[in-house]
Amino acid sequence: MDWNTPIDLNRISHAWRQGRALGLVREDATAVLFHDLLRMGARVAELQAVFPPRTVHALAIKANPLVQVLRCAVGAGAGLEAASLEEVWLAQAAGCPPSRIIFDSPAKSTQEIHRAIELGVWINADNTDELARIEQALTLRRGYRGRIGLRVNPLVGEGKIAMTSVGGHQSKFGVPVSDAAALLDLYRRYHWLTGIHVHVGSQGAPLQQLVAAARVAFDLRASIENVTGRAIEFIDLGGGLPARYDIDADPPTPRDYVAALRAAVPELFDFQGVLLTEFGRAVQASCGWAVSRVEYVKTVANQCCAVLHLGADFLMRPVYRPAEWRHRFYVLDQAGRPKAGDARPVQLLGPLCFAGDIVAPSVLLPPIETDDLVVIGDTGAYTLSLWSRHCNRAIPMVIGVRDTAAERLEPLKARETAAEIVALWS
Ligand SMILES: Cc1ncc(COP(=O)(O)O)c(C=O)c1O
Repeated sequence: MDWNTPIDLNRISHAWRQGRALGLVREDATAVLFHDLLRMGARVAELQAVFPPRTVHALAIKANPLVQVLRCAVGAGAGLEAASLEEVWLAQAAGCPPSRIIFDSPAKSTQEIHRAIELGVWINADNTDELARIEQALTLRRGYRGRIGLRVNPLVGEGKIAMTSVGGHQSKFGVPVSDAAALLDLYRRYHWLTGIHVHVGSQGAPLQQLVAAARVAFDLRASIENVTGRAIEFIDLGGGLPARYDIDADPPTPRDYVAALRAAVPELFDFQGVLLTEFGRAVQASCGWAVSRVEYVKTVANQCCAVLHLGADFLMRPVYRPAEWRHRFYVLDQAGRPKAGDARPVQLLGPLCFAGDIVAPSVLLPPIETDDLVVIGDTGAYTLSLWSRHCNRAIPMVIGVRDTAAERLEPLKARETAAEIVALWS
């Protein structure tokens, strides 16, 4: 599949018009989010096609926690990675079997550990104190071994984006691989500790870093098996494959990743245990787009500005860290058709009450008028899931797109109501 090609604007336009025709998108809609479930299914299938057949691809719920989206991923054979016990609940709500749920929270309470063991999900411990709590929990459940791994920091360095890099010396996650003796001691002491987890970061982590982390995991597996005489039963490679945002030219695809793994970690392909992955944005980001009506067009300091209904509440990272995250933008006319005309610079302003709520400082788009529709591309990951309550605007409705034919659009989540917002703060 052509992994890095963004969704076609005609598909986006068609989905909007079908949404209007079906009455899913109301005439007065100010913003609507879309998620292409067909595309997501194809991306899960691509992962399944290129990785060894027994791999469980657990999509990171934090990238997109919509239960209907998760349900569709589970239906396509994916598992789910939960960064909190609450996300385990979401995985259950999406119908994910425990054998495909990974519980990764770096701050698990004793109660949460008990609950996760009871459920039989995969658990990756973050540190030695957590292992001691797991030991206690397992002692209470005599005979039960669980599916327990340890997060190891492979120390393969930082990626381009410091805030999402977790493979450097400063990382707060996991036991550093440099503590080799201590690590081997843990695997010797805890006979139920049978997994190794590495995750080095997200967007901005070069492919070599992901592959180097896998190399570290398999080297560690060899040392552990040597010392303990026990087999490592699962290796979790984490997520971290980048998405293709507007500033990222052709990031590596799953095929590139697997080819690089084949060269650097050949034993991964004969591994008799379970291989796990935890991709988030690489699968989800390009499946989503957002449409906002242009509420006003005005001139500020000689610059043409369009006021949108989505800002830092939805696009937290692009607004607060614009140098690191940049989405694609398009304009549709009031009827939802791609607008023509010579591109001109325009500033896209968010609706929140602070000066920095700027979605794009200057972007070249066909002439924009009030009531046009601005499309923000690649919003399927870490946008809705990072929704901020600043100014308390309602979370827009989300529509799932299976095909752009009339009957293949479905509401995934209704627009938040006034009563829900009041309840939230009551
Ligand atoms: C432990 C873990 N796994 C997986 C992911 C998903 O990362 P990505 O969306 O970059 O694939 C993250 C992201 O924060 C993570 O912390």
